[in-house]
Amino acid sequence: IPLERTRNFSIIAHIDHGKSTLADRLLEITGTISPGEGNKQVLDRLQVEQERGITVKAQTASLFYTHNGEEYLLNLIDTPGHVDFSYEVSRSLQACQGVVLLVDANKGVQAQTVANFFLAFTSDLAIVSVVNKIDLKNADPDRAIAQMQRLFDCDPDKVCRISAKLGTNVQSVLTAVIEDIPPPSQCRRDEPLRALIFDSWFDRYKGCVPLVAVVDGQLAAGDVIVSSQSGQSYEVREVGLLRPQETPATQLCAGQVGYLHANIRTATEAQVGDTLYLKGQSVTPLAGFRRAKPMVYAGVYPMDQSQVPNLRSAIERLTLNDSSVSVQVESSAALGQGWRLGFLGLLHMDVFTQRLQQEYDSEVVVTSPSVPYKAKIFGAKNIKKYRGDEIEINGPAQFPDVMIVSEFMEPMVMGTIITPDAYFGAVQALVMERRGHQSEATNIDNERIMVRATMPLSEVVVDFYDELKSLTSGYASFDYEDAGYETTNLSKLVILLNGEPVEELSLIVHTSRARSIGRAVCARLAESIPRQMFSVAIQAAVGGKILARADVKALKKDVLAKCYGGDISRKMKLLKRQAEGKRRMKRIANIDIPRETFVKVLKR
Ligand code: GTP
Repeated sequence: IPLERTRNFSIIAHIDHGKSTLADRLLEITGTISPGEGNKQVLDRLQVEQERGITVKAQTASLFYTHNGEEYLLNLIDTPGHVDFSYEVSRSLQACQGVVLLVDANKGVQAQTVANFFLAFTSDLAIVSVVNKIDLKNADPDRAIAQMQRLFDCDPDKVCRISAKLGTNVQSVLTAVIEDIPPPSQCRRDEPLRALIFDSWFDRYKGCVPLVAVVDGQLAAGDVIVSSQSGQSYEVREVGLLRPQETPATQLCAGQVGYLHANIRTATEAQVGDTLYLKGQSVTPLAGFRRAKPMVYAGVYPMDQSQVPNLRSAIERLTLNDSSVSVQVESSAALGQGWRLGFLGLLHMDVFTQRLQQEYDSEVVVTSPSVPYKAKIFGAKNIKKYRGDEIEINGPAQFPDVMIVSEFMEPMVMGTIITPDAYFGAVQALVMERRGHQSEATNIDNERIMVRATMPLSEVVVDFYDELKSLTSGYASFDYEDAGYETTNLSKLVILLNGEPVEELSLIVHTSRARSIGRAVCARLAESIPRQMFSVAIQAAVGGKILARADVKALKKDVLAKCYGGDISRKMKLLKRQAEGKRRMKRIANIDIPRETFVKVLKR
């Protein structure tokens, strides 16, 4: 199929607006899969996607469709719907010339619709606007279209009105894709091969399977390809299209999207963003992708230390499939050996840890998340430990002595919140409370307002979204994009038990929050530390100054009290049981603290 009759496009939408359902219908209409009841989100392959109903990894399908008597090749490049995966969204968009912007007729434009629109708009992509779910009783497509016109400046007469569920008008989406999205005309078939790897997965038998967008030339079985990044070469065994199962083809030409098998053993050998070319031909590599940087860190520990090897292999398997997760070994006196993992965002962390539980089949402890702070150090050149004058702080253990810090910085995000008018005041108050600055408020129609605000990421990662939802009875939507770093004031909040600092309980906090967070942590500890033979003082301090305190009262726990004069073997048994209990505890300042206490306090 010639380039003029090839289209590469993605569907972008807010979560639950029906992207996967529309993809299923497109697959059916084009005869890629046969219609039937069973076609529920065919492209959502992973178990967690099916369970949570969200798309995590981008999946792709090639469709053949006849329009005005001519056959077209339409490459549908599926993108994940959520903000945390905007790295994968922008990656997928790089292989496209246009997008289908899908909006629920009932819910209207939501925060992710706006964020995704900006991603597509700034990438200069053609936009096909679609309103979905017109079959719903409360559907108000005119209102959704008015919002789209206002925010995205689209032509209201060109918006397709469909029901992806029933299949109504879905054909009109294909027509618009063909008529309004340009072919990949920058591709040249008579030039030497250049193929961009934009996704990959691992197959137990075939190794790493890259998904490529062929930009120039062609690729066929028998070719010897070279990775621009590693310089390693491979013989291609098979090329093909995803329909959506792997379907072998004789070749892949410029403008097409497909997979290849080449006995590539590990994901690191063929990384996303790499350019493949034919051995012996020299080409300029294509612009790759900026690596996604983890923005949310958390410790992951097995419930039981004997499970360390199992958890390690589960983490290794999963990171093979998701290279955006960063992994570092970490150990804690209270929780034992574990890992510090870095994620792109909170949902990414949830999805990954859920997949980990499923893979590994046992409980893991995930500690409360933190964000990467930075500090500028005075005269760092003279201090051996610091190589540059700026350091990154990924946890309390790395917190430097404030005496040598000239400036602290924290990661910021630009948040988009869309809320019904009635909750506008409450939303503004929440944003302020979370140290945010509102930069704009726009009416998107006479009932809804869009608020844009810069906020510290650290304030967003702890239950901001949950609070926003409960404040607005579930009506507000939220999304964010990266907004760089800003100067801030940070403190290390140290927790002391009977005067002794407990490293694993300490936290990095904004200085203005130290006291209130200190109080909350002390109260939580006082509830969960079991009473001892003596009283325990729990204190929170910053730089030696005590900010909060709670106490656990003494308890005279004499297990033998009940069996005075009784028989000796019963006494021995009780003492033995008590000793066993002790072994599971950690001793700090003479206080026995069960592992569960740490788990309870450190867990999210
Ligand atoms: P993510 O992959 O998580 O971003 O969600 P999605 O946008 O792919 O949404 P999905 O296709 O999973 O649809 C969400 C829900 O809306 C499902 O329960 C669908 O059955 C339903 N739905 C999708 N399209 C329609 C439609 O046209 N009409 C009605 N009534 N329901 C629809």
